[in-house]
Amino acid sequence: MGDRLAIDGGAPVRTRGWPEWPESRAEAWDEGISAELRDVFLGGVEGSPATRANAFAAQFAAYCGVAHGEMMPHGTDSLMAALTAVLDLDGFRAGGEVIVPNYTFVATASAALDRRCSVAFVDIDPRTRTIDPAAAEAAIDPGRTVAILPVHVGGHPADMGALRQIADRHGLKIVEDCAQAHGAEVDGRKVGSLGDAGAFSFQSSKNLTSGEGGIVTTDDDETWHRAVAFKDCGRHPTGGEWSHQRIGGNFRTSEYLAVLLSARLTTLEAETVRRNENGAYLREQLADVPGITPPHLAPYTTMHGYHHFMMLYDESEFGGRSRDEFVAAVCAEGVPVGSGYRTPLSDSAALRQLAGKHPTLVRRLPCPNVERVVAESVRLTHSHLLGSRDDMDDIVAAVVKVRSALTTG
Ligand SMILES: Cc1ncc(COP(=O)(O)O)c(C=O)c1O
Repeated sequence: MGDRLAIDGGAPVRTRGWPEWPESRAEAWDEGISAELRDVFLGGVEGSPATRANAFAAQFAAYCGVAHGEMMPHGTDSLMAALTAVLDLDGFRAGGEVIVPNYTFVATASAALDRRCSVAFVDIDPRTRTIDPAAAEAAIDPGRTVAILPVHVGGHPADMGALRQIADRHGLKIVEDCAQAHGAEVDGRKVGSLGDAGAFSFQSSKNLTSGEGGIVTTDDDETWHRAVAFKDCGRHPTGGEWSHQRIGGNFRTSEYLAVLLSARLTTLEAETVRRNENGAYLREQLADVPGITPPHLAPYTTMHGYHHFMMLYDESEFGGRSRDEFVAAVCAEGVPVGSGYRTPLSDSAALRQLAGKHPTLVRRLPCPNVERVVAESVRLTHSHLLGSRDDMDDIVAAVVKVRSALTTG
């Protein structure tokens, strides 16, 4: 390996591939997924009564430490169901305002808007990228705020202790957006058990996946009943086929999803531990690279979800070369990094347009930390953190090589 960057025609640090995601597919197929899928197919029951989906939901709820889980087709509709359930929304009256962090995927806000809630975008703690509790509290409008929707973004849990105190002080509900944080923990308790309800995604990029899918978690019986009604044509869990208690949609799922999720749930914890071990090693190795700030772990984080390994890039330590030039150079070395969200969510075309047409639906509070973080972020994804120590060393070698070339070249 020479010092010439791969992007300039030099030899890359790495030409080998990265761990397959999801899992090592041929092995998993032989070890049982094929037999289970065959059973569903030959058994002829691919949907209701959803025995496998309900069994998986119970397993996942137990994993999170709550009484109930309700499978959904996506994370987006899981958020919609959770908000509907927690706020007892009927879908027709305006639902009140939900406070969301301005550093997240569009679904966090669009799910609330879809349920006729307005949204207030607030700043994040730049170290964890999760909602800043003080900014959330300052944004509360006693006449209209009804809930806080923290996002455990990249797998780092939001400061749920502080948020719970704020919510209790102001009579607000909390719905956790856990789409990126399967297995993450606050003081030994899993996310999904820390708010009034949690919403997870099992979409293909997620740390637990069935291609598409989601789940609502909650400890509260009434909340669960309302989530079930939203999902299943207004039905009650024990009410039978013709008992429509509320207005609901059809967000039921196929049994095939449950086969994949039940099989993959058995390895989630070990994978999360491995990501945490590799994450700790990488943080240590990158700590001394000037211009790179590795992810910070808040002291309450007993397990990081590591959906992403998020760093901050300081171009003044890289010869003034932009974050995007750095990303392109590291990718060319065989280490696929990305930038993540490129604008505060409130500045996306969809939210700007909505705010223009319906100004009462969108409130944007000052977000200097989000503005800085979107400009300076560089991230690896969770499957890289399932690699070996050698793989981690390649990541460090690529970053160090690119820095040395950009600062001397
Ligand atoms: C933070 C966050 N919330 C919600 C979602 C929505 O999940 P889904 O794509 O399964 O609808 C995602 C998915 O990317 C997400 O990252």
